[in-house]
Amino acid sequence: MRSEGRNQLVRLEAERLQKTELAEVRVPLLVRPFYHLWRRALDQIEVVRLDLPVRRLPVAFEGVRACQLSDLHIDRDEDLERLERAVSLVNQERPALVFLTGDYFSGPATMRRYLPEVARVLSWLNPFLAAFAIPGNHDNWSCFALISAELARIGIVPLCNQSRRISYRGESVVIVGIDDLTTRRADPNGAFRGVRAEDCTLVLAHNPDTVLYLRHRQPGVVLCGHTHGGAIRLPIIGSPIRWILKLGANYYAGLNRYDTFYVYTNRGLGTFCVRLRFNCRPEVSSFSLTRFDDLQSGAR
Ligand SMILES: [Fe+2]
Repeated sequence: MRSEGRNQLVRLEAERLQKTELAEVRVPLLVRPFYHLWRRALDQIEVVRLDLPVRRLPVAFEGVRACQLSDLHIDRDEDLERLERAVSLVNQERPALVFLTGDYFSGPATMRRYLPEVARVLSWLNPFLAAFAIPGNHDNWSCFALISAELARIGIVPLCNQSRRISYRGESVVIVGIDDLTTRRADPNGAFRGVRAEDCTLVLAHNPDTVLYLRHRQPGVVLCGHTHGGAIRLPIIGSPIRWILKLGANYYAGLNRYDTFYVYTNRGLGTFCVRLRFNCRPEVSSFSLTRFDDLQSGAR
């Protein structure tokens, strides 16, 4: 299965290079180096592998692999091709769990056009425990009911202010999926209904600012997207949108601690509005779940 995944990835990469070369021919010679840099920034997916600290993680889940994709924004054929390569990269990691943290399309028109194709590609995901999906702001502006019906049909569990317990080797964690904060659909109370105080929770929330409403819930870890990792990250200054979150300037990308738990913000796969990335490649996150003792409260 693993070599099958690698062969598929090699084929997809060869197809991408062929298309890039064909497109390059139409670009004036002088601007071709910039065109090449632009395409590379948009298309070269980085697999970010890291140990993800999770409070109260049961021993059975130590070292279990989980992958995250976010902000797919499938609005063009090239976005769909990028998703194909991302899914192949996820499968190569052989994850137990896969998390999709919202913004599958940018609007209703592209949702209607690409939803069947996106479902076909996402159906290739083959985690050995389960895959979960939550809505982002763009999905609520489109129609998450339609998206979630397709995801459920291909075996991905949609979580809209809901939770699901996952058991493995006699122990369990709870996956909590919170609806989007920007579109005012987030309901942490509803999402945590039925979650016990002693449970280890892996919380999915599109907008990192949702964390501001989770402190008293003592989550195991929170996985987010939404910011596209800042999209343009300049040397020294960082991203011009680093202050966009109320949560703080550091939370727009990567692993950060908040109070007694950690928050991870995925850089996403696609773009919205401006098709530009700089020093901020599209991301497949590949986590090894790691136990850690409770941190002291109030140490932001
Ligand atoms: Fe978003």
